[in-house]
Amino acid sequence: MTQSTKSGHALVTGASSGIGAAIAREYARRGKPLVLVARRADRLEALAAELSARVPCVVIAADLADPATPARLFADTQARGIFVDTLVNNAGYGVPGRYLSADWKTHADFLQVLMTSVAELTHRYLPAMEAARHGRILNVASLAGLVPATAGHTLYGATKLWLIRFSESLDQEMRPHGVHVTALCPGMTYTEFHDVNGMREKVSKLPKGIWLGSDDVARLGVDAVESGRARIVTGRANRLIAALSKYLPDALARALISSRSKDFRDAD
Ligand SMILES: NC(=O)c1ccc[n+]([C@@H]2O[C@H](COP(=O)([O-])OP(=O)(O)OC[C@H]3O[C@@H](n4cnc5c(N)ncnc54)[C@H](OP(=O)(O)O)[C@@H]3O)[C@@H](O)[C@H]2O)c1
Repeated sequence: MTQSTKSGHALVTGASSGIGAAIAREYARRGKPLVLVARRADRLEALAAELSARVPCVVIAADLADPATPARLFADTQARGIFVDTLVNNAGYGVPGRYLSADWKTHADFLQVLMTSVAELTHRYLPAMEAARHGRILNVASLAGLVPATAGHTLYGATKLWLIRFSESLDQEMRPHGVHVTALCPGMTYTEFHDVNGMREKVSKLPKGIWLGSDDVARLGVDAVESGRARIVTGRANRLIAALSKYLPDALARALISSRSKDFRDAD
C-alpha cells in the first residue's frame, strides 16, 4: 500500500458529522494534515480541537450549495500555501418524497452539492496532484447507485451512479499519473443522514446486519483509495445486494427492490 505523503493535506467535505468526520479521524490517525469543510463551523472547530494534537487542522466553513464555493475554497487553500494531495468528496444528504413534492430550488441545491461541486473541486485540485505525480480522490457514493431505481428520493440514486461512473473513468485517466480515484459505496451507515432526511423511524426497523458504523466505513474507504481500488462496497450484506442487482434479470431485481423500498424510501 502506498500511503499518501505526510506533506500534503487531506481536504474533507462534510467533515462536521458522520462518515466525513470519521474519514478525517482516520486520516489524522495516519498523520495527515487536514482541511475540514462543512457549513457548521462549531462542529468543525470541535473536531479540529480533538485532532490538532495529532495533525495540523484548518477549518473552512462553506456551503457547497453555493455555486461560488468551490472556487472560493480553492483560492483559500492556495492563499494559505496548502497542497491538497487528497480530496474527499463526502458532503451529501437525501431529499425524501417524490420528485414533484420538492420545489426546483431544493433539487438545484441538491445537484450542486452532490454533483457540480464535486466535479469542480476535482477539476481544480487535480492539476497539482498530476504535477506532483501523487494524489488521492475519495468520492463517497452509495449502494443506492448500484441497485435498481425505486420511487422516491428521485435524484439520489442517479447522482450516486453518476459519481461511481465519474470516479471509475477518472481513475483510469489518472492512474498513470500517480493519482488514485475511488468510489466508496456504503450501505446503511449509522450517522445523522437519516435524521436529516426524516427517515430515522422507518430505517430503524431494517435488519441490524445491513448496518455499519461510520468508523468502519471510513477505514475501508481510506484503505481502498490508498491501495488503488476504484470501487468499494462496504459490508458483506451490501456486497450481496450489489451482486444480486447486477446478476439477476433486470425485471426481477427491480421487483425485489421495489417490494422492499417502502422500508427505506419515502415516495409521497
Ligand atoms: N448514512 C448512510 O446510510 C449513507 C449510505 C450511503 C452513502 N452515504 C453518503 O455518505 C455521505 C456522508 O453522509 P453521512 O451519512 O455521514 O450523513 P451526515 O452525518 O448527515 O453528514 C453529512 C455531511 O454533509 C455536510 N453537508 C450537507 N450539506 C452541505 C452543504 N450544503 N455544504 C457543505 N456541507 C454539507 C454536512 O455538514 P453541515 O450540515 O455542517 O454543512 C455533514 O457534515 C453522503 O454523501 C451520503 O450520501 C450515507
